[in-house]
Amino acid sequence: MGAKTVLGILGLGTVGTGVVDLLRDNPQFEIRRIAVRDIAKPREIDLSAFEITEDPFQLADDPEIDIIVEVAGGVDPAFEVIKRALTSGKNVVTANKELIAKHGPEIFDLANKHGVTVFFEAAVGGGIPLISTLQRGLQANRISRVAGIVNGTTNYILTRMEQDRKSFDEALREAQAAGFAETDPSDDIEGRDVVYKIAILSSLAFQSPVEVSKIFRQGITQIIDLDIILAAEFGYRIKMIGLAQPGVGDTLDVRAHPMLIPIHHPLASVEGVNNAIFISGSAVGEIMLSGPGAGKYPTASAVVGDIINIASALKLPDFARYFQPPISSQVKPVYPIDETRNAYYIRLETHDTPGVIGKLGLAFGQHGVSLHSVAQKGVTSSGTATIVLLTHTVREKQVQGALREISALPTVKQIGVLLRVLNH
Ligand code: HSE
Repeated sequence: MGAKTVLGILGLGTVGTGVVDLLRDNPQFEIRRIAVRDIAKPREIDLSAFEITEDPFQLADDPEIDIIVEVAGGVDPAFEVIKRALTSGKNVVTANKELIAKHGPEIFDLANKHGVTVFFEAAVGGGIPLISTLQRGLQANRISRVAGIVNGTTNYILTRMEQDRKSFDEALREAQAAGFAETDPSDDIEGRDVVYKIAILSSLAFQSPVEVSKIFRQGITQIIDLDIILAAEFGYRIKMIGLAQPGVGDTLDVRAHPMLIPIHHPLASVEGVNNAIFISGSAVGEIMLSGPGAGKYPTASAVVGDIINIASALKLPDFARYFQPPISSQVKPVYPIDETRNAYYIRLETHDTPGVIGKLGLAFGQHGVSLHSVAQKGVTSSGTATIVLLTHTVREKQVQGALREISALPTVKQIGVLLRVLNH
């Protein structure tokens, strides 16, 4: 048997513990050091066999370590530790979506310069082998679209709202009690998690990164149970989606927002904390990969898969060259959301007075927005009528123009929500 591959692990939360569990009895690996934020914190795992440190840079500086496994999350200190590890000739496995989304090109350049590589299968879709599918399995294709449910927390909340008629707040509390949503769930419900993940998928599908801060983001906090019921009546389910497709010219249309998904589309049937990614390719046609997008062992499965893949290639001369992600360092502009074309679901709260629907129709018509369906759903005791409209496909700035005019009408109380519809 050859020499063991020596590992340093940064982070010992849920995923880190799963990685240690999967590897501790594997004779091919030795976990040399583990860096944690707080050594004194009680843990469910026996750490007596490992050297534990609160200084993550000790991992990067240890000449015996072959692979640094970063499962701490966040940019600080992970970015600096990874840069130092790459510079000292270590390969890196990371589950860090924020880091790869924001600093991927710089990290890959540095790895390339030092003849090492960075694997990040666990950064998107937890246990689903998505990165390797885009990076290797689909290389024969020109990808025309990636549309994914890549956040388990929001999919769980929307599923509970639909199936159990729960309010958003109730469903969120249930997700927290079940351990799916964080105590501070804002990255999930405000869509930041999806922004990072779709930025990574887009960079692999279209071989160019985009500026993460330019990606349009809308969370799920404005969605109420009535939207879910009415969407179903129109033949759709509401899902939080990361979408990436070529824009006009050299741009990429990359966004993270809830969408109405036609009920017969494969993404519509993905329930609970599961993730799924629907990919359209020129040769393969349409494929969907689905499965657990988070959790201890599913995510550890992706991390350990990366570790094993690097370890088996380590012995080959100049191996890292063949494993660089096919992403250029040339950043492409994000296609502005105002220019995108979509069909829209719009919920408005209005006074229940004669002629309201007529005025709405006029405003949409004047901005060239053609309506597909209009429904009024009852009137509350305070005289508020809820009006829901579905438009035909139109440029977003036309809808925004109409809504600016509509929100100034004295009969309109507020625009409740605007959602986009996924077209085929
Ligand atoms: N918070 C993420 C989710 C899991 O709910 O899907 C980690 O990416």
